[in-house]
This record gives sequence, structure tokens and C-alpha cells, in this order.
Amino acid sequence: MKDVYILAIETSCDETSIAIVKNGHECIYMNVLTQMDTHANFGGVVPEIASRMHTENITMVLDDVLTKSHMQIKDVDAIAVTYAPGLLGSLLVGVEFAKTLSFLYDKPLIAVNHMAGHIYANNLTGDLKFPLLALVVSGGHTDLVIMKGDYEFEVIGKTLDDAIGEAYDKVARVLDLKYPGGPNVERLAKDGSATYNLGVPHLEGYNVSYSGLKSSVINIVHNERQRGNELNKKDLACSFQNIAIGQLITKVRKALKNEDIKNVIVAGGVSANGYLRGEMEKLCQEYHVSLSIPDFKYCTDNAAMIGAAAYPLYLKQEFATLDLNASSTTSIF
Ligand code: KG4
Ligand code: ZN
Repeated sequence: MKDVYILAIETSCDETSIAIVKNGHECIYMNVLTQMDTHANFGGVVPEIASRMHTENITMVLDDVLTKSHMQIKDVDAIAVTYAPGLLGSLLVGVEFAKTLSFLYDKPLIAVNHMAGHIYANNLTGDLKFPLLALVVSGGHTDLVIMKGDYEFEVIGKTLDDAIGEAYDKVARVLDLKYPGGPNVERLAKDGSATYNLGVPHLEGYNVSYSGLKSSVINIVHNERQRGNELNKKDLACSFQNIAIGQLITKVRKALKNEDIKNVIVAGGVSANGYLRGEMEKLCQEYHVSLSIPDFKYCTDNAAMIGAAAYPLYLKQEFATLDLNASSTTSIF
């Protein structure tokens, strides 16, 4: 079969990213322009600023990708874009840009869900082998999903309140760590011990919860400050991380015991977490199932994963029309 080249665009949050992906598995070239330093000044992403910066930068990012890949838009087979979920203003910049390219160059348009992107990021370093269990962990999602085939998602568990990444970011804030919080909490936790008693949530089935854990951390910080006690931030970060990740490990273990699973994958920004990666490796070795976690560069938001997720849709000829709209909430699960 002829090789398929997809030009993929991702602007759902604060990264302007464009990539060219071959056959859904090989990233030919990718540019990720992050706005992180700008938003760090405000302690989090400011949606207005994010969409304005996408508009300012997207043409420059495309030019760089075409130059470095030695390709032209006429050489690609389709244009893929993240249409949901994310910040509406940010998504709209990518969607309008993709629609314009699709129209001008007469290329099919593929609408990709951001969370499918995180899952299919695993095809850039390996192969999705079905039936698989996907642990989807990001700033907006904490889901346990079984996939028996391409784009067949069955959610067996999820967070009943906050997402794990959101909890990391809130804990970072209360510990006075800079945005983005997750990697900074992890850094601190590495040198700490789990000495604080934060309480472990016990939920039925495969569901998890993060709001009680987050509140426990906030209460400890406030109480210690009120009493004028020195807070051991490293130990508190470590205690939080042990329970945050521990919950996921418990639920994945339960799924490995009870469900028919050949392969486990981890997807979403929190998959960059070293402690999670290590614990998942140990667990999958114990159960003799293969584990796939994307390379670091494909863990956080990037366009290559959108190109990877677009490929099965290209094969099925599932194309979008030029009236495609962005959606901040549409879920694939
Ligand atoms: O997937 P992503 O880049 O954006 C969303 O789609 O949400 O995930 C971002 C989330 C943030 O909450 C960030 O703090 C978290 O992933 N994150 C981490 C780490 N790296 C990113 N959380 C814990 N440990 C990390 N190393
Ligand atoms: Zn993401």
C-alpha cells in the first residue's frame, strides 16, 4: 500500500504544534511551540492569551515543519486537527487553520479528539495490541478504558471528581511551586518520604477520586502554617504522590486480574511521571503483560499524536467537512 503522510495540527491548550506523520507510526518532523513561560507568570493558562499566541505563531510553526521535513503541503495525503476537547478559543485557531489548508490544497480533513491523540501516541513508539487497557491520565481526564479494536472505547473506571493532573497542579500551587505543577511536585517528591497520613480513598469497582486527597494536602498546609510549624514540602509531595499514583496501580491491578487484557498503555500528560512509569513497569512484569508508555516528547500535548490518531480514520475514509466546529467538551469515551 502507498505510504500515507498526514499533516497534523494541535492547539487545544497552550502548545502550538504541527507534525507530519507517516502511516500513523513515524513522526517525520514535529515542532512544539510551548507558551508555558508566558502562562507561568499567571500561575496557569490564560485562555485569551493562549488563543492570541496560537494565532501569532501557527504560520511560523507550519513553515518550520515544511522546511525541516523537506515536504510541501501538496505532498501530504490529509490534514488532521484536534477539534475537542480543550480551550475553545485555542481549538478554534487550529480548526480554522486546518480547514483553510484543506480547502486551499484540496486535501481531506480529519477531525481528531485530543484524548484519542494521547492514546494513539503509543503507536509512535510501538503498536497498540488489542484487547488493551488504557490508563488515561491528564489535566482533565483520569480514565481506565478497554479497547478491543481501533476507536472502540469502553470506560470501566474514572475519577468521580478531579482529574489526577488537576490534583497535581492544585497541590503544586499550595506548595508554592511554579506552573506547570505536575513535574515540580514529582521533583520534590523524589527526595521525600511518605510520612504524612493523607487517607486513602476506597472506591468500588475501577473508579478513583482525587478531591479528598487534594483537600487533605491543603488542610495540612494551612494547619501547619497556622501553628507556625515548619512544613516538610518534600515529604508532603511524596505522601500525596504515593496515594495519587497508588490508587491507579490498585485499579490497574484489579483490571489485570479480572479482565481479558493483552497489553497495557498509559496516555496523557501525567504519563511523563517517573514514579507512575516505574510502578506500572513493576505491575505489568508481575502480570506478564506488555506495557507501552509514549516517549516523553509524545506524553504532553503534541501534534504527532494527532497524526497517529488520524491514521485509522484516514484508512476508514472518515473525513470531516468544512463546517467542522471546535468543541471544548466533546468526549470520545
Ligand atoms: O495531557 P496534558 O499535557 O494536557 C491535558 O490534556 O490535560 O496533561 C497536562 C497535565 C497537567 O496537569 C500536568 O501537571 C500533568 O499533566 N503532568 C504531570 C507530569 N507532567 C505533566 N503530572 C505529574 N507528573 C509529571 N511528571
Ligand atoms: Zn493533553
